[in-house]
Amino acid sequence: MRSRLRTINLPQEEWDHYVLPIGETTLSGPLFDYMSSCALVIECCCGKGEFLAEEAKKHPNKHFLGIDYAYPVVQRAVKRAHAHQLDNIRYLHTTIEQAFSLIPRFSNLERIYINFSDPWPKKRHWKRRVIQKEILTMIHRIMNEHTTLYIVTDHPDYKDWIREQLKAVGTLLAPVYNDWAVNHLEEFHESDYMNKGLARGYTITFFLARKI
Ligand SMILES: C[S@@+](CC[C@H](N)C(=O)[O-])C[C@H]1O[C@@H](n2cnc3c(N)ncnc32)[C@H](O)[C@@H]1O
Repeated sequence: MRSRLRTINLPQEEWDHYVLPIGETTLSGPLFDYMSSCALVIECCCGKGEFLAEEAKKHPNKHFLGIDYAYPVVQRAVKRAHAHQLDNIRYLHTTIEQAFSLIPRFSNLERIYINFSDPWPKKRHWKRRVIQKEILTMIHRIMNEHTTLYIVTDHPDYKDWIREQLKAVGTLLAPVYNDWAVNHLEEFHESDYMNKGLARGYTITFFLARKI
């Protein structure tokens, strides 16, 4: 779903501080320096940055990178990072497809999260779902042997879809536990979308994968 949020007034210097240029054919220098300098966590489709801000507070010695293509959403994520004086968060205002076509493999990449990406319940919209074999293959390319991929959803049909997509790249990715999915994860931070799902009585499913 495209964002229906309005844009907000955000000082240009806040945007410029938190939103890094991605680069054209290779990664921009500032982004490369940010990503390579210490333990790194990426959140795809990060929305308004609630999850990332909580993680960044908890782990001040790690770098967090959020990726989202919706401008008003990234504006709010920037505002949040600035309000909490968090200097270990940066954002990319682009699609994850574009980002992963440029990001190389970093040995310090610890985690990649894709939390509550849109379920697109109607069959004719399934092609818009973020979790597809192609994106998992792109993600596999940048993972190292210590990286964990987390995919989180509260949607019953999308949960089955995600499992199928993971199985389809089963020569590239393997489950971290006996099964691909668990229903509980210690210290997972709430976000707007997670709370909406919980309020409807949905179960949250956490898929954890590692590179083979
Ligand atoms: C349902 S929201 C979830 C936001 C957040 N992860 C949360 O848990 O609250 C999905 C987000 O994915 C973003 N998004 C969807 N497709 C994307 C893509 N291909 N690349 C980057 N962002 C995308 C949307 O702009 C939106 O902010």
